[in-house]
Amino acid sequence: MPEVAGVALSSIAQPSTAVVVGATGGIGGALLNALAEARTFRTVFALSRHPERTWPAACTPIGVDILNEASLAAAAATVAEHGPVGLVLVATGQLHGPGLSPEKTYRALSLEALSRAFAVNAAGPALVAKHFLPLLPRQGKAVFAAISARVGSIGDNRLGGWHAYRASKAALNMLLRNLAIELAVKAPEAVCVGLHPGTVDTRLSQPFQAGVPRDRLFTPALAAERLLGVVDRLTAADTGGCFAWDGARIPP
Ligand SMILES: NC(=O)c1ccc[n+]([C@@H]2O[C@H](COP(=O)([O-])OP(=O)(O)OC[C@H]3O[C@@H](n4cnc5c(N)ncnc54)[C@H](OP(=O)(O)O)[C@@H]3O)[C@@H](O)[C@H]2O)c1
Repeated sequence: MPEVAGVALSSIAQPSTAVVVGATGGIGGALLNALAEARTFRTVFALSRHPERTWPAACTPIGVDILNEASLAAAAATVAEHGPVGLVLVATGQLHGPGLSPEKTYRALSLEALSRAFAVNAAGPALVAKHFLPLLPRQGKAVFAAISARVGSIGDNRLGGWHAYRASKAALNMLLRNLAIELAVKAPEAVCVGLHPGTVDTRLSQPFQAGVPRDRLFTPALAAERLLGVVDRLTAADTGGCFAWDGARIPP
């Protein structure tokens, strides 16, 4: 039995195109592959900082840096030439890197790390929304989803730690709720949500996988299949929420 079954995304209004932002990432790449295989969308755009890479045949690469608004505006203008956008998946994000390491205590807080996490995990996806929400159709189901994280839930936080990442994902969830309210005025069937993929075997989680039981560490392909299944089942009643890979609503 293949591990990944594939998702048709038949609930999304067609004809339309799909956009994956962060297509070089573990989860973004798997989402892109699944969309390319599904053949539901007229075109699947792969947005990343490395458009020169090799992409699946059915994908159109475009270079963007989510912290460079001019690059997002140019990408949106290119995508707009191909008609309405039925699906935008923002799979960018950062947990660790130069100047950024999940804090175990408030003693480790730094302005640099907080600023970096908020820029990449909250401001960047919001700027993507600024330029791509106008491309969603006014009628029929269309989805804008950003990969958030369960640790961004304030109500679910019993462990503490990871201050900058947690807070930046909480900010992302608030921005998504705000965007959803505004989007509903013009596109009442559209859905704007955050998604929690589970713990997925990618560059981002690699340094933190030691304590994760093997059956709770998902392959990117399995995570992508589950997330697309959730996206397919979402309705306008779900807009503004955050949903886990199994479809369960995560408390704000
Ligand atoms: N993996 C997990 O267990 C897990 C759990 C919960 C939530 N998440 C969330 O899932 C999302 C995807 O993470 P992942 O696990 O797939 O990590 P990943 O493999 O490290 O992918 C991160 C992606 O973000 C892109 N990115 C970062 N900054 C960018 C910028 N300024 N402009 C454009 N692209 C940028 C990276 O591009 P480059 O290739 O150019 O660096 C890469 O494509 C993140 O939001 C993460 O917080 C992951």
